[in-house]
Amino acid sequence: MDRHIQRLLNRISLAFAVAGTLALFHVFFKTSVSCSYSGHNLHHHDTLTQTISHSPFPRSSCDAASRPTLLPDRRFSRIQSSRSWRRGVAALSSLFLRLRTAHLLSNSSRILCVSSGAGHEVAAFRESGVVDVTGVDLIDFPPLVSRADPHNLPFFDNVFDLGFSRGLSGALFPVRFVGELERTVRKGGAVALVVERCGSEEEVASVKGLFRKSSLVEVSNITLSDSQMTLIVMRVNGLSP
Ligand SMILES: *[C@@H]1O[C@H](CO)[C@@H](O)[C@H](O)[C@H]1NC(C)=O
Ligand SMILES: *[C@@H]1O[C@H](CO)[C@@H](O)[C@H](O)[C@H]1NC(C)=O
Repeated sequence: MDRHIQRLLNRISLAFAVAGTLALFHVFFKTSVSCSYSGHNLHHHDTLTQTISHSPFPRSSCDAASRPTLLPDRRFSRIQSSRSWRRGVAALSSLFLRLRTAHLLSNSSRILCVSSGAGHEVAAFRESGVVDVTGVDLIDFPPLVSRADPHNLPFFDNVFDLGFSRGLSGALFPVRFVGELERTVRKGGAVALVVERCGSEEEVASVKGLFRKSSLVEVSNITLSDSQMTLIVMRVNGLSP
């Protein structure tokens, strides 16, 4: 009788030992599989689009270990040295020269760039000697662009001298988008928008009509990095038209 119980207990403990070992194997396997998978993923998506998106907060130490080892600074300097970056910045720099000539921009201007992507315009303004340049977009792109909703800018009224954006066409609510630029730019300051080429007066008027308290300064057809665009500059005068 005692021997029977002894044998039964032995079998039960053996069964537990086997189950425990299997469970351990399972955990080990699952972990290493997901680790190598995300590593694999990273290689394939190591493009500019990947770098703009947020790295999710690591859910486990395994995730953390497979995160890109490239520091944001290194990553940015690599982007900055690319030809397309240089070309994009150079095109904007020559556009900004026009704003200087029109006395809408100086080295002491406080500038807001909305929907600025990776920050070409921020770089172009800074390189031209402007110190106080803020770049925002829905997705942050360090070090030049921080995260803010263009439709709900986290800035006080009247704090900027110039608002610049190439993002109007991508805005979900154009009226709100323009309204926020008008609100944050001081009276006497300007808002400069680069939009798809306006082929008619009506198209210009439809952009102009989004403004509530500004008047038209300039409309010009420009070529920006091989794209036919139109520059529309409005002066914020605080009066409804
Ligand atoms: C603006 O700053 C740049 C760079 O510091 C300088 O070269 C340029 O002369 C300045 N422009 C004016 C008008 O002061
Ligand atoms: C811009 O170009 C379009 C044709 O692409 C033309 O209809 C329009 O008048 C031009 N606007 C200006 C301000 O020159």
